[in-house]
Amino acid sequence: MTFTFPKDFTWGTATASYQVEGAIYEGGRTASIWDTYCAVPGNILDGSSGEFACDQYHRYLEDIKLMQELGVGAYRLSVAWSRIVPKYGGPVNQEGIDYYRRVLKALHEAGIKPAVTLYHWDLPQYLEDRGGWVNRETALRFADYVAVLVHEFGDLVDTWITLNEPWCSAYLGYGNGAHAPGLRDHAKALAAVHHLNLAHGLAVKAIRAELGERAKVAVTLNLAANVAETDASEDIAAKHRADLMANEVFLGPMIDGAYNPEIFEVTKHVTDWSFIQDGDVEIAHQPIDALGINYYSTNHVRGCVATDAGSFAGDRHANAMPAQENVETLPPTGELTAMGWNQEPKALTALLCELSERWPDLPIVITENGSAWEDEVSEDSAAPGGRIVHDPQRVAYLNAHVQAVADALAAGANVTGYFAWSLLDNFEWAYGYTKRFGIIRVDYDTQARIWKDSALRFRQIVQENAI
Ligand code: NOJ
Repeated sequence: MTFTFPKDFTWGTATASYQVEGAIYEGGRTASIWDTYCAVPGNILDGSSGEFACDQYHRYLEDIKLMQELGVGAYRLSVAWSRIVPKYGGPVNQEGIDYYRRVLKALHEAGIKPAVTLYHWDLPQYLEDRGGWVNRETALRFADYVAVLVHEFGDLVDTWITLNEPWCSAYLGYGNGAHAPGLRDHAKALAAVHHLNLAHGLAVKAIRAELGERAKVAVTLNLAANVAETDASEDIAAKHRADLMANEVFLGPMIDGAYNPEIFEVTKHVTDWSFIQDGDVEIAHQPIDALGINYYSTNHVRGCVATDAGSFAGDRHANAMPAQENVETLPPTGELTAMGWNQEPKALTALLCELSERWPDLPIVITENGSAWEDEVSEDSAAPGGRIVHDPQRVAYLNAHVQAVADALAAGANVTGYFAWSLLDNFEWAYGYTKRFGIIRVDYDTQARIWKDSALRFRQIVQENAI
């Protein structure tokens, strides 16, 4: 049966600055924590970095043309902080402003609405040198940088997304070291969690100070879809603890205006949370216009005995939980994507319905969804450039997940948009270029863009506004 999406439903594609831009030494940009992290042998699977990536810095017009051909109405991109404020204390770099202005204007001319992520992990290295997200000051500097962006681009941005997946910034960056800056300290990870919550609130305030209520503001969370392995009470309790530390630790302050006190109890062997200052949670708790969700897969969890309290036993799985909270994430089953992640689209429907029951008036946007596979290029004289990628698994994943969104809408969930991750194959963080999430392939030798069947299928979904 065909499901038709609401007529104002947003279809888009998403990317992030460090993953696609390249040109890291151009335009007055200075180093981010990812440049530093990539320079350490062993951190990135193929020893690569974002130095060239998809060269979108020079090819954004070509990429916008691709989006027009796809027919999408929106593009989620992020701004590289160190292009805007290259040095500690300023000044603002006009070349950086000019670059993003050109991109945003070109999007407007193409009829594509920009959804701008203000922080997608590329923290200026000069801030990491002062403690990064473990240092409260980073949240204050973030607000300064956001104020510059809203002042410069207020007329061109459709939606402002404060943070992308603060879970990853905190836990992978400072907890298990799988992401930049590569620290392994659970207490620092929790301080980073709080400072990211604070940064979010300060950013929303900075946006409203310039643009008031007319600005559309969101935050993107990778809410973990934790599934208790059995009905046993220890497994259900493990799921509850995993939800607390992955999801509630952000949702609580940002949306409900309080940390669930159980969070302090569960982590008391790690930190006393004394980095929370009076008034912080009120700042984090700002009205927002949408909640962005990045969804890929589920985590099946069960209770386990605590491991070493000082270390952090997470892995590179984007949603794996720290073992300190006595939660064991089980190996995924079924047909796994190239990331080794499972596919459970029904859990997306459940998550969306749950969120809408909890906050009926808060629109939800899928700001990322997609899958990596081992793609191969085929010759095809009918395809643009004579080449195409047949990616039946990515097409199936796309269909199943768009269907899952349709099912959630049919059940009454308040979902207003879907952004495919990603427009292009790109730099997949610790996996370098070994994992391809694009619906359009990038030939990294020539920077040629090659269509995949999934892009053709996405174009059809967008055109028909239906699945
Ligand atoms: C979430 C992140 O926001 C994005 O940067 C990453 O590439 C995808 N997940 C896939 O892992």
